[in-house]
Amino acid sequence: MSKDYKPPYVKKILVSSRKVKKGIKKAAKWLDDKFMSKKTTPIFVSVLKGSLPFYGELVKHIHFDVLFDYIAISSYKGKITCTSKPKIIFDLTNDVKGKDVVVIEDVVDRGNTLSLLVSLLKKRKAKSVIVMVLVDKSDMRTVPFKPDYVCFELLHDPFLIGWGLDYNEKARNLPYIAEFDKSYIDRI
Ligand code: IMP
Ligand code: MG
Repeated sequence: MSKDYKPPYVKKILVSSRKVKKGIKKAAKWLDDKFMSKKTTPIFVSVLKGSLPFYGELVKHIHFDVLFDYIAISSYKGKITCTSKPKIIFDLTNDVKGKDVVVIEDVVDRGNTLSLLVSLLKKRKAKSVIVMVLVDKSDMRTVPFKPDYVCFELLHDPFLIGWGLDYNEKARNLPYIAEFDKSYIDRI
């Protein structure tokens, strides 16, 4: 088998590809336990673009019907700090009124993006909202926000790449979660 791609801007692999997959399988089991016995078809909302690899892996392991939907919320201007208020740049195609909604996101950091999204879904009268995140940087919050399910908690502010997480739109395809080497800022 060929080795995983490891570009020079990867400072350290924090969660291996095998561990990420195992963690996501566990998340799918948690969702199965919640929804398998219910007569409901939840809407799975992928927060673009970062959640796509997590979303794709998660849905392979669930055992109930779901509807796929997507939303894009932008707050980063390509570097490693938040520079603007989150804004919806691509909206859902489903009406969420009276529906169970499962939000799938790569990371919760300051909490702005997901708290905006959850209040929007509640304003649109979703019956229930569950938030699943691949990574929680829980010590970084500026807005109080608690996801319903966290696959991995990573503290002390490493800038993360891989499994959908990007630096300047790159590195989303890395099959592990890694720390970005900040000496590569503005160089890739
Ligand atoms: P928030 O600060 O919780 O609103 O996070 C907003 C968005 O910032 C996330 O959806 C990610 O797209 C991005 N983000 C936060 N931390 C990281 C990171 O460590 N690596 C890559 N993107 C991040
Ligand atoms: Mg994101």
